[in-house]
Amino acid sequence: MVIKIKKICCIGAGYVGGPTMSVIADRCPEIFVDVVDKNVERIKLWNSTNLKDLPIYEPGLEDIVKRRRGKNLTFSTNIKEKISSADMIFISVNTPTKTKGIGAGQASDLKWVEACARDVANFATGHTVVVEKSTLPVKTAEVIKKILEASQIPINFETKKSFDVLSNPEFLAEGSAIKDLEYPDRVLIGGENNEAILALNDIYINWVSPEKILHTNIWSSELAKLTANAFLAQRISSINSISALCENTGADVKEVSRAIGLDSRIGSKFLNSGPGFGGSCFKKDILNLVYLSKYFGLEEVAEFWEGVVKLNNWHQHRLSRLITNKLFGTISGKKICILGFSFKANTNDTRESAAITICKDLLEEGAFLSISDPKVNKKQIEKDLKSYSLNNLNYSEISDFFNYEGQWAFEEDINNAAEKSDAIVILTEWEEYLNINWEEISTMMRKPAWIFDARSILDPKEIKDNDLYLWRIGNGQSND
Ligand code: UDX
Ligand code: ADP
Repeated sequence: MVIKIKKICCIGAGYVGGPTMSVIADRCPEIFVDVVDKNVERIKLWNSTNLKDLPIYEPGLEDIVKRRRGKNLTFSTNIKEKISSADMIFISVNTPTKTKGIGAGQASDLKWVEACARDVANFATGHTVVVEKSTLPVKTAEVIKKILEASQIPINFETKKSFDVLSNPEFLAEGSAIKDLEYPDRVLIGGENNEAILALNDIYINWVSPEKILHTNIWSSELAKLTANAFLAQRISSINSISALCENTGADVKEVSRAIGLDSRIGSKFLNSGPGFGGSCFKKDILNLVYLSKYFGLEEVAEFWEGVVKLNNWHQHRLSRLITNKLFGTISGKKICILGFSFKANTNDTRESAAITICKDLLEEGAFLSISDPKVNKKQIEKDLKSYSLNNLNYSEISDFFNYEGQWAFEEDINNAAEKSDAIVILTEWEEYLNINWEEISTMMRKPAWIFDARSILDPKEIKDNDLYLWRIGNGQSND
């Protein structure tokens, strides 16, 4: 039986569902794509007339939404109706790490996936291909299948329904999601029924060359996703561990990265030392691997992967300790300017951002922080730091910050953020930070003033020429 897909429904209008469905709608104009979400506010934003108000910032996304929305791409909260008319349903909901019960702190919470599977079981009609798209622990397909199978009992001929379940993990990185979706390194389709696999294959074939579309069994597909993220995160922890050694030995991590990256077996990507990896996937996926390994009694395997997360945590705290030490061992009553709060450039996402840990540490030590980010707004930072921003501070009237210990303010303008600060810490590699006028900034800071370049993006000479001390991640020579 050939399965022909005419209508897709995606449950979950988040960082994965939104961009993925936009690209499918763009590349397959003959397929209708409905994105549904229970979050009314989020859907409202997806339908904003002003495309700048879309709930997700991704280069290239606005253009696609402009082209397809209202034609073959819709966003709604009409979950029941859209499920019932779809031939293929993508499950693209959030799967945070469990905070309580069995597997707390490691296993993913599948309650939203389960809720979706139940909705699909209830409302789907005819034959439906269900595709797991969220980052999921291995064997999730089995959970989905069991729930769907329980609903396949034909009551009469009209209500008879049947399902196929596929795993089609996403490999998109935030900030380059559209490019990753349009030009993927590979597309993975895991499943048991060849017709269902081919139905999804037929969608991707519209823009992806066939040799890049891999068909696997469902477990390999699920495990490949976790493994890919674990390998990538492992590279970052590896290079960050070396950065600490560089700082102590006089080596430069950039030179080390370059030297090892030229070995074609190692490759040059993902070797930039920074403030520690963030994002919604890396930590969660590794912890899933850890949980899975422990479940099967593979303690050594679990410990190996857990080490990647431990190193990342240690590295983030290492940076905040280092900042305090450089500022004569105390930061209370001092203003520290934080440039960049998102977990990496070109995204407004702050999930697991190193900035959260580092800012919390600095606030705990009594610093006053002025935080600036070109895309993250004040409300989000308030949520992440679990405290409110001070507003409308007039820095020219403040001589020291002892009355502001452990507090912070959001500043859109970099100059305001930097005014009277003792240090500037660059945590995200935003392009605008490459064009800062350090001559001007230097005159506004309190001396001796430090620049902590945790992304190693600044020109050291320019900083030093402007009467500023510089600390660069993984650089043993400039860090004096
Ligand atoms: C990641 C995977 O790349 C993607 O394939 C998967 O689908 C989801 O998880 P993402 O979390 O969006 O994507 O970001 P990524 O670009 O991988 O960066 C993750 C973190 O590692 C960021 O905090 C980034 O700053 C950091 N990083 C990355 C480094 O510190 N150094 C590097 O060399 C690369
Ligand atoms: P991701 O990064 O995996 O895309 P997000 O948190 O950005 O995760 O998005 C997941 C979306 O899924 C959220 O907008 C949330 O409201 C939605 N969602 C979760 N559970 C359900 C459900 N049962 N039905 C509809 N939408 C859901």
